[in-house]
Amino acid sequence: MSKKKIINTRLTAILEAAPTEDLDRQDYFIKVAKEEVAKRSEAAGRPMTCCVNTFGCQMNARDSEKILGVLEKAGYVESEDEHADFVIYNTCTVRENACNRVYGRLGYLSTLKKKNEFMKIALCGCMMQEEHVREKIHQSYPFVDLVFGTHNIYKFAELLVEMLFSDFQIVEVVEGSNKIVEELPIVRKYSYKSGVNITFGCNNFCSYCIVPYVRGREKSREPKDIIREIEKLASDGVVEVMLLGQNVNSYGKGLADPITFAELLQEVEKIDGIERIRFMTSHPKDLSDELIEVMANSKKICRHLHLPVQSGSSRILKIMNRHYDREHYLNLVKKIREKLPDVALTTDIIVGFPGETEEDFLETLSLVKEVEYDSAFTFIYSKRTGTPAASMPDQVPEDVVKDRFDRLLKEVQEISEKRARAYEGQDATVLVESVNEQDASLVTGRMSNNLLVHFPGDKDLIGKLVDVHLDTCKGFYFLGSRK
Ligand code: 5AD
Ligand code: SF4
Repeated sequence: MSKKKIINTRLTAILEAAPTEDLDRQDYFIKVAKEEVAKRSEAAGRPMTCCVNTFGCQMNARDSEKILGVLEKAGYVESEDEHADFVIYNTCTVRENACNRVYGRLGYLSTLKKKNEFMKIALCGCMMQEEHVREKIHQSYPFVDLVFGTHNIYKFAELLVEMLFSDFQIVEVVEGSNKIVEELPIVRKYSYKSGVNITFGCNNFCSYCIVPYVRGREKSREPKDIIREIEKLASDGVVEVMLLGQNVNSYGKGLADPITFAELLQEVEKIDGIERIRFMTSHPKDLSDELIEVMANSKKICRHLHLPVQSGSSRILKIMNRHYDREHYLNLVKKIREKLPDVALTTDIIVGFPGETEEDFLETLSLVKEVEYDSAFTFIYSKRTGTPAASMPDQVPEDVVKDRFDRLLKEVQEISEKRARAYEGQDATVLVESVNEQDASLVTGRMSNNLLVHFPGDKDLIGKLVDVHLDTCKGFYFLGSRK
């Protein structure tokens, strides 16, 4: 859907002069935006600033880097906070509280906007793919200047220009597009690591999940484009890549020359300069023996598998439309632990799915005990309008869900701590990510299994792989020392 009123002759002329080919077209709009941003900076007597605030998952984080890439090319300077001339919220709609946070902050943004004549506000991301959200923004938040969806990021430069030359709310959202445009400008948040999209969208339709409706059908990028992007990242000094997709294990299925995710990993492994490979997220129904084998033989693939289970009850898994049962999952875990004894297993669990009984919940608890996850994200079921689960009977009462959630969290935390403690006294290689925020004499590094270690060091270590000794376990992280 595209709602656009062009009432401005200047904008009409700009649009008419635009090239049609995607990359040329966006280059052209970046130039137009740059001239306009320069004019506004001159009028304001200071550089125009921008702030991209990301809610939600790694996919959104990557999209935000693309948005920031265009903004910097157009002459905006990134600001520390939302006191900026252009604030963009990249939203998430997976759970309701993420949506409420956005609405909550919009009130605050409107007060900032009243004090800054240059200020513009844009909303993008998954929430904007929902019609009722767009209606609400239009009715209740008319001060928002630009609304665009997850499939419009590639033409953000064009939308930016439309916004700069209009004085009404621009809304541009397409549904179900699976167009992939390569080689957009990008500003990476970290110099030494980067996310790399390998698939977009999702075909799984888990009955609680809104993602397939807002992100569209699954589409894989061409392997050559992925490899070229990673080679470029490596030549820019990136040592760790995180391959991103809603279900990376089904990568490659729809391509003209299908390849498997495990084959793609082997290609990435060959790239000089890349020292670590991570990926997210794995679906238990598609995780292959081939992948386990490739991981076992790899020197670069990190010892971490995020394998969302969602529930330990086969009955609930069926209603969730997950296409595996408890037994299949436990067998998979057994196989993984046999072949990859040092792997950290993490998961996502939903509590309070419609119809979940105490027995179902106890099955989840017992599965958690049996698997012994290194860590787990636990979520209270959130009703998402438009998903099958939203209209299922027997929504579980809030107090019951809260009680189950607390019991699960306690179990998960105890196990995580126990798992982490087992590494105490060992040595590990970490990738140094930052100077410690609380104590500047320490740096923070990440182990292959995703655990964090704080140890004495300075900012020159950032982006380096360093061998450390894990002196003391502090629950979910370590204090260490350099070897
Ligand atoms: N309610 C609660 N959690 C959800 N997730 C997805 N949809 C919902 C929902 N409606 C969780 C799943 C998924 C993670 C990214 O978010 O556990 O794995
Ligand atoms: Fe949502 Fe299921 Fe797709 Fe994950 S696999 S994004 S939970 S529908």
